[in-house]
Amino acid sequence: MARPGQVRIVEVGPRDGLQNEKTAISTADKIALIDRLSATGLRTIEATSFVSPKWVPQLADAAEVFAGIQRAPGVAYPVLVPNEQGYDRARAAGASEVAVFTAASEAFNRRNINASIDESIERFRPVLERAHHDGVRVRGYVSTVLGCPYQGEVPLTDVVHVARRLHGLGCYEISLGDTIGVGTPGKARAMLRAVADVVPMQALAVHFHDTYGQALSNILACLEEGVAVVDASVSGTGGCPYARGASGNVASEDVVYMLHGLGIDTGIDLASLADTGRWLAQLLGRANGSKVGQALAAA
Ligand code: HMG
Ligand code: MG
Repeated sequence: MARPGQVRIVEVGPRDGLQNEKTAISTADKIALIDRLSATGLRTIEATSFVSPKWVPQLADAAEVFAGIQRAPGVAYPVLVPNEQGYDRARAAGASEVAVFTAASEAFNRRNINASIDESIERFRPVLERAHHDGVRVRGYVSTVLGCPYQGEVPLTDVVHVARRLHGLGCYEISLGDTIGVGTPGKARAMLRAVADVVPMQALAVHFHDTYGQALSNILACLEEGVAVVDASVSGTGGCPYARGASGNVASEDVVYMLHGLGIDTGIDLASLADTGRWLAQLLGRANGSKVGQALAAA
């Protein structure tokens, strides 16, 4: 399959990025981050997460954040929900798109959401039914598609099986997550191919953490298979608090720079995105996790 001419970036920084932060970030700063991202041309910004505040205290202010952002026309602001309680909270806050999440590995799923894969799917069923009735779009995540911090190898057949179940439940898009960033391009490509045999490529997205520095190469391999939706996090923040050793997501700036260099349209203004990445790195008091962001700042 040919590379796509256009790619949609799903910006996960405000959620995946901030859920793992040790530094306390004010609600106002979270809102400012999302509003800045809304002005870059991004079409999908995962805004926050309505999970248990005991499990992820960093995002306990999800409702305030969601109420405070300026929702730009044409931009979707999905939020993570693990169960019906999360769905209720998300809807009460005004969310019109949500994302459910499970994994291809039982061991990880148990640690992350205190449920088996089957139990998590049963929890999602009423969420999907209500969302369908409410006209709410639901994205689905499969974590640990290229390895698990607790189980090690994850069989491809398990990834395919879970992706098919989420798609069958009614998720419009399935994001395939290399939660701990252990994948390499050949494995990423084979994994995507296997999933695309049962879920149409147009309904797939890839989500690479960059722990081993393989994320851009993995994305390129997947683009060559025809995937046209890529999750990324501005300034390379990110990581799951329940995945030992997971580091940041691939930086959105780096992905956009590569895509534009390949002649693939994203609709994103790279300078404005890089500006936001530098602003965020400063706010968090750390080095910018985007090489492109660093290079543009030095140029
Ligand atoms: P549990 O403790 O088994 O939940 O947690 P429970 O149903 O037994 O309820 C226990 C308490 O939590 C109760 O409160 C509930 O009301 C409350 P209490 O009576 O004790 O006061 N509760 C909630 N409160 C607010 N919002 C909710 C909610 N649900 C229950 N939605 C649960 C189960 C799923 C809630 C918990 O494990 C959880 O929140 N886990 C989330 C972990 C997480 O957010 N991980 C990071 C996101 S996944 C990720 O990063 C991977 C991804 O990026 C892709 C990739 O990289 O692979 C997506
Ligand atoms: Mg992630």
